[in-house]
Parts: sequence; C-alpha cells; structure tokens
Amino acid sequence: MKKNTSKMPAVNGKISIAPSILSADLCNLGQEVARVANAGADWLHVDIMDGHFVPNLSFGPAVVRSLRSNTTLALDVHLMVTNPLRFIEPFAKAGADLLTVHVESQDDTLEALKAIQAQGIKTGVSIKPDTDPDVLAPLTPYLDLILVMSVYPGFGGQTFLESSPAQIKKVRQLINASGKQIWLEVDGGINAQTAPLALAAGADALVAGHAIFSSADPALALKQIRQATPEI
Ligand code: DX5
Ligand code: ZN
Repeated sequence: MKKNTSKMPAVNGKISIAPSILSADLCNLGQEVARVANAGADWLHVDIMDGHFVPNLSFGPAVVRSLRSNTTLALDVHLMVTNPLRFIEPFAKAGADLLTVHVESQDDTLEALKAIQAQGIKTGVSIKPDTDPDVLAPLTPYLDLILVMSVYPGFGGQTFLESSPAQIKKVRQLINASGKQIWLEVDGGINAQTAPLALAAGADALVAGHAIFSSADPALALKQIRQATPEI
C-alpha cells in the first residue's frame, strides 16, 4: 500500500463545493481553474467518460496531470467508464486525490476500491439515478465518498431529477448506519435553487458544472451556490 498522499480532506462538518470542469472553457482551462479556486472552490471535479459507459467522451490522465501541476485543489475524479480497473493506476499516478467508480460498471466494485486504496488515495463509489442505494451497504468500510447522480450521467447542463432528494436521503441513512465518516456528494443539475434541496436531503458535497462555468461570472455563481447553503 502506498503512502496516503491524497489532498482530499476527511469529512469535516463543512459543505464542499466541487466545480466540474466539463463545462469550463477548455481553451483557457488554467484560468478557469484559478478563477474558481480564488472564488473558494473546495475541490475540482473531473469527469472521465469512455464513450461506452456513457454516450460521451471527455478527458484522459494527461488532463489530470496538467491540472495537478497547476492547482493545489483536491482533484475529485469521477470515472464514468465500463472498466475502471484499467484506469485506476494511470489516473492515480497523474495526480487524482480521489477516484470514484460506478457500481454499474462491469468490474468488481470491491476490487476497484481496494485498487484505489493501494494507490494511497481516497475512494468513492457512484450510483446512477435508478440504482438502489442498498447495493452500497457492504462497501461502506472501504469508502471515503458516495456520489449520488442527480441526472443520468454523460452530459453537463441537465436538470436536477425530482427523484434525487429521496435517493440522497436513503444514502444519508446508509452512511449514518455505517458509523463511518463518508462524504455524500451530489452530481448533476446543481445550482443555487437545487443546492438547498440536496443539502436538506443529507448531502455535504456538491458538484456544479454548468451553473458555474456557463455563467457570465463563475466566481459569483459559485458564491451564490455557497450562500444558498444555510449550513455554512
Ligand atoms: C455528468 C457529470 C457531471 C456534470 C455535472 O455526467 O458527472 O459531473 O459535469 O454538470 P452539471 O452541473 O452541469 O449538471
Ligand atoms: Zn461527475
């Protein structure tokens, strides 16, 4: 097992906001990242899509490596890929602080979580909107984060699904029952209007792509999401 080098903090009673670079201006990625870092982003969310698990393509390890050398923000890397086992080592070596795999992927989730731990970084698991959160219960001893998808994964800019708060509440109960400190992150359609719904249901970390990076003023958009979260 490698030494733990992850910048991702343990659950700390605060709400973390993770801008998703999927909606950033990729010709100016360094500036976009600096802008959200200066505006108080906690982590950077990086969506990895293989065109198979989801009908879209995004970034590879080279992008994570460039981000790593340009920011001190924790890199929260979301693997939307059919075979996450193939990609754990390359993304960990590139500088990911946390790797999230989907329970719906084709690889064994427990094996993937152990492979992530072996890289000395934090572990996450994600569920799509139609997946029963009960599948997560046996995995909690191995988890640092659970990512609840509040849209069907694949694209930024979708609408927060109405079914999401019920899904988030179930995951919150499962985390509390586990007695373990596990982040509950929500991803998809988060903005100043939907953030309070996710937090009221039990989230303590929020991903936001379109709401931040497609705004005329990303720093202001991030602050508006933070101000809409009564706990902070
Ligand atoms: C969707 C991705 C999300 C996406 C969120 O499949 O996992 O991280 O970037 O984007 P918004 O906030 O635009 O819904
Ligand atoms: Zn994501």
